Amino acid sequence: MAWRIVSVVGARPQFIKAKPLSDALQAFSEIEEILVHTGQHYDFEMSGVFFEELQLRPPDVNLEVGSGSHGVQTGHMLIRLEAFLLESLPDLVLVYGDTNSTLAGALAAAKLHIPVAHVEAGLRSFNRAMPEEINRVVADHLSDLLFAPTQTAVENLRKEGIQEGVFRDGDVMADVLLRSLPKVKHRQETLFRRLDLRPGEFLLATVHRAENTDREENLRGIWAALEELARETPLLLPLHPRTQQALEEMGLRPKEVRVLPPVSYLEMLALESGARVILTDSGGVQKEAYLLGVPCVTLREETEWVETVRDGWNVLVGAHPERIIAAARHFLSHPPKAPRQEDFGGGRAAERIAAHLAEWLGENKGSA
Ligand code: UD1
Ligand code: UDP
Repeated sequence: MAWRIVSVVGARPQFIKAKPLSDALQAFSEIEEILVHTGQHYDFEMSGVFFEELQLRPPDVNLEVGSGSHGVQTGHMLIRLEAFLLESLPDLVLVYGDTNSTLAGALAAAKLHIPVAHVEAGLRSFNRAMPEEINRVVADHLSDLLFAPTQTAVENLRKEGIQEGVFRDGDVMADVLLRSLPKVKHRQETLFRRLDLRPGEFLLATVHRAENTDREENLRGIWAALEELARETPLLLPLHPRTQQALEEMGLRPKEVRVLPPVSYLEMLALESGARVILTDSGGVQKEAYLLGVPCVTLREETEWVETVRDGWNVLVGAHPERIIAAARHFLSHPPKAPRQEDFGGGRAAERIAAHLAEWLGENKGSA
């Protein structure tokens, strides 16, 4: 009999995070992984494209919860996950990051007394107005195994009284990024030809955080800054569907900004690595900017990835147009010194996490 792990994913960054660990788990013949997609993201460019491009194996089940308010979406996930877990009876449930799919996976499992492992544990913005902060705090406090990507994350957990089961194994997003880089060069040539871009001669932006899309003042501020910057330097904005809707509702139409549909992961890495400066409110994109050595202007007041700020590679400017414009212009003329990539585990996180999972299963669930 094998140990059975149910991995729960549902949103764009989780497909990317799941890839290296799903691969690493395959090295353990005694582990059977079942991949559950909650259906939180469902458009091809928000979901299917990542499975295809990263060759992540197709989910064993899609719970098809779709969009909704927090209560509706999480509630549907809980109902369907509970039924699935009762049927599949795993030895452990694995959750990633801080989305509603993370919360539902951890809660459904914990209530059934199934051990939970959380990848990307211990990140904190200390801002409870963010839905993600609530999701990650709850997931961490329900978890038996906590895979903290950085020393800061380990410290955050310690301050909340969590010390047992904590491993600082590095960051799985660094793994997938470093492994994907050799494929990016070729993609960059074709993509840049298609978009008529030259490396180092454009800005790249992404916006999707609720605090920016759902607060009109914030989105208008960010939009004004992006339009102003785009008058001087080409600015590309691959647009999350949530932001697309918010812009339409506010009657904000691009004049200078080049809006694109959401792009695939390799296309995103190609754009990020060719950008002069990145402007974003995404957690993953801030970290990728750092790992790629591209300066980042973060459209938030705080960050979970404090290591990126320490060396001057990332500045936090919120949604104020003057601060956004000043920070981007500063980076255009003063690139910072080299970043310290080793903070994020050097590309071996998934292997270490898989080994710790196998060891824990052996100690707690008997031999497979
Ligand atoms: C979610 C996560 C956020 C993460 C982001 C990654 C929560 C609370 N938020 O935010 O932490 O950074 O994913 O991208 O879990 N929509 C579509 N097509 C899709 C998916 C969504 O059109 O395939 C639209 C729907 O109108 C939906 C809205 O986007 O209501 C928001 O989607 P949702 O999954 O609720 O949250 P995200 O903003 O994507
Ligand atoms: N990403 C992508 N295409 C896009 C925008 C982002 O592939 O059009 C990738 C990005 O490179 C990173 C991840 O999606 O790996 C980040 O996801 P997102 O910004 O949606 O969520 P967050 O990290 O803020 O939770």
